[in-house]
Amino acid sequence: MRKSAFIFAAIAALAGCGEKSGIEPERMADAIFSVIEADRASYTNFVVNRLANEEQVIKADEHWKDNKALPLPAQMMRMGAERVAEQEAGFNYALLSQWAINKQNKPRTDLEQQGLQFINDNPGKNFYGTETLGDTEYFTAIYPDVAVSPACVSCHNEHVDSPRTDFELGETMGGVVIRFPM
Ligand code: HEC
Repeated sequence: MRKSAFIFAAIAALAGCGEKSGIEPERMADAIFSVIEADRASYTNFVVNRLANEEQVIKADEHWKDNKALPLPAQMMRMGAERVAEQEAGFNYALLSQWAINKQNKPRTDLEQQGLQFINDNPGKNFYGTETLGDTEYFTAIYPDVAVSPACVSCHNEHVDSPRTDFELGETMGGVVIRFPM
């Protein structure tokens, strides 16, 4: 099943068992996030970690095309996000950070900035808010992206384009931003 079709099936299922006014924006964002997070964790564990670290048959490399390597998990997520954006699926998502290696992943709105700061100051908590961009009011949810393995920390700290070199294991490195019109 296509990813967006799956997400909408999940949302429809949730909406069906919700109140008559439909699904709460928070629950909808949480449902979308659970799919993004599940894909990201599965790719990281069963593709990258297994083949690059355990079996050592192929590397994961930022320049995956030139070097015939696996895309990094963050790149994989961005490809999915770009595809969703092309399909005009009614929502969008991105992995952002105040200390982004790729400048495309820096916060752009005041609410993104505020939310990334919040998840950084309040480990384990999500951030939910609304913002008006152009003429449209959006619901925006931000979920922490944590350094769960030493590889996260070492790769970012050593990367030439990383504005930070002191990430530690267990620290929040950025956040997944999900946005849809109210
Ligand atoms: C081998 C190097 C490497 C590893 C390992 C790695 N990253 Fe990254 N990460 C990158 C690169 C390169 C980017 C920029 C990708 C892009 O969008 O082009 C990135 C992007 C990100 C971003 C978006 C902001 C930014 O810096 O551009 C976050 C957040 C992030 N990584 C967190 C993590 C976490 C958490 C882990 C561990 C689970 C991890 N990374 C593992 C190299 C790595």
